[in-house]
Amino acid sequence: MNFRVITIDGPAGAGKTTVSKRLAAALGCVYVDTGALYRGVAYEVDRRKIDWKDETAMAAFLSDLDLSFIMEGEDLVLTSSGKDITPFIRTPEITMLASATSALPAVRQALLGIQKNIAATRDAVFEGRDMGTAVFPDARFKFFLFADLSVRAQRRYDEMDASRKELKNVQAEMEKRDENDSSRKTNPLKPAPDAISIDSTYLTIDQVVAKILSEIKAS
Ligand code: DC
Repeated sequence: MNFRVITIDGPAGAGKTTVSKRLAAALGCVYVDTGALYRGVAYEVDRRKIDWKDETAMAAFLSDLDLSFIMEGEDLVLTSSGKDITPFIRTPEITMLASATSALPAVRQALLGIQKNIAATRDAVFEGRDMGTAVFPDARFKFFLFADLSVRAQRRYDEMDASRKELKNVQAEMEKRDENDSSRKTNPLKPAPDAISIDSTYLTIDQVVAKILSEIKAS
């Protein structure tokens, strides 16, 4: 691979998105939120009322799926058949459905090409759950970002708007998602053996970004 790929994996709320955006800006490359692709699948499954447990229905659905990313400044816009679906993919229902459908090997396979194609033409920071283990096992720079569950839940809660849920529900959903994402058979959430792990529980975003940049510069 001639282009530089930096992978950042970890559970929800560990700070991956903010860190990845900041890192990409500092390095002058693009950032790719691969979770958005899994959310795009879930959104379309829900919209088209596909039974995601039906393998034949899912195979037909996936062969027809047309997800891609458009960069708008520093932001990523996710399109499905050319339509911007970014505003619809972060609801609690789509969040849980994305975690469930991302366990399907056929879904993971369908999204592999999109991710690899992006890295084929440019430097990028990729964030997700299996970037360092499965999608870019040869990446030179791999990081695994984690934090205590209660701190991650509090961060997510603080980001929510007036339709706030209770903190304990946010934490329970996050815990369920951690469990789904880590226990699935295909490409579960886990650090690559050669990833540098960073515990962001007591670190600011600035400190995490500085740590990653210093690791990259040191090597
Ligand atoms: O990062 P996120 O919360 O937006 O991701 C949504 C879901 O997608 C997450 O619960 C697990 C799945 N996912 C995945 O399986 N592999 C990735 N590389 C990224 C996300």
